[in-house]
Amino acid sequence: MTLASQTILPEQGGDIVLSNGNRYERIERPSLEYTDEVARVTAPLYEKVRHHIPEIEWPVHAPYVYAINRLKKQRNAAILAHNYQTPEIYHCVADIAGDSLQLAMEATKVEADIIVQCGVHFMAETSKLLNPSKVVLIPDMRAGCSLADSITGEDVRLLREANPGVPIVTYVNTSADVKAESDICCTSSNAVAIVESFGVDKVLLIPDEYLAQNVAKQTDVKILTWKGHCEVHERFTAEELLAYKDIDPAIQIIAHPECPTEVTAVADFTGSTKGMIDFALGQKPGAKVLLVTECSMASNIQEQAPGVEFIKPCNLCPHMKRITLPKILDSLLDMKEEVVVDPLMAARARKAVERMVNLKN
Ligand code: 13P
Ligand code: SF4
Repeated sequence: MTLASQTILPEQGGDIVLSNGNRYERIERPSLEYTDEVARVTAPLYEKVRHHIPEIEWPVHAPYVYAINRLKKQRNAAILAHNYQTPEIYHCVADIAGDSLQLAMEATKVEADIIVQCGVHFMAETSKLLNPSKVVLIPDMRAGCSLADSITGEDVRLLREANPGVPIVTYVNTSADVKAESDICCTSSNAVAIVESFGVDKVLLIPDEYLAQNVAKQTDVKILTWKGHCEVHERFTAEELLAYKDIDPAIQIIAHPECPTEVTAVADFTGSTKGMIDFALGQKPGAKVLLVTECSMASNIQEQAPGVEFIKPCNLCPHMKRITLPKILDSLLDMKEEVVVDPLMAARARKAVERMVNLKN
């Protein structure tokens, strides 16, 4: 995680003052009572999550949903949520939900003054890189990522020295420091196109070893990599997935490319979280789909695919799960935690992200 990211909350005359000098009024903590008004306003949202949140629990979530949606308007804030966020965040408070590439692209279009990133730290940092003049908040600064933690900017400098002339493609699941040392970024949905965009025979694709191996299967470009792994996807095994297929050979296995190659080898489809969603939604009613990824994804898309039975041999991402409704509310109330990136580093990292975004267009 980049050390330049920090929360700066000096108080002046009762206002909250952020690192850019902007002042924000302190807003009184709203009542979190489950009133008739809260029940009425949130009822349509409950319909979207009723299969995942028992009715008896809704009075706990609803006051937060109600308060957050009001506060968003008051602060002129937009909530960007990754597909791995819990259903009450994904369906009830997010303005934009998507995979890493979608969130990076949407971050460039957000009109609100404030972005609240419901995802992990590198995603918030990417939003900040693309929107230097906007305030980017993350509800819990500790929401990290095992991939981002696997490599530093210094490691990338050493890799460049050891591999002169070889382009360095960096997965977006990295710190700004690492992006700043890279030629271009990629996500799981555009990695093959980015690797091939150089027109050379050898590329470094870091830091996810499994993503690199999965990309290598789809291109003639020689891929050099790093030994970083996603702690969620590295735990799946081909053996456990084949056990499901043994029970019902018609089950469709859909895997994320952060999974080991032995897992993607037995999958019917491999793609980014958006790619997995599109594939799952394209299935006929009655289909059984095994989603090999983080647990919340199947819950989030169940509503859109009522006829599909999702089987979930899923693993939780503890970092994604640090983001909760109470923390989002605190984030908007207290304007925390602000994501700040050193401007010189940000300028270099931005180039790598923008090259990726522009290549997509
Ligand atoms: P995508 O949503 O880009 O597929 O990334 C998955 C992921 O692990 C993000 O943390
Ligand atoms: Fe990082 Fe994996 Fe969690 Fe995504 S799911 S944030 S890659 S640890």
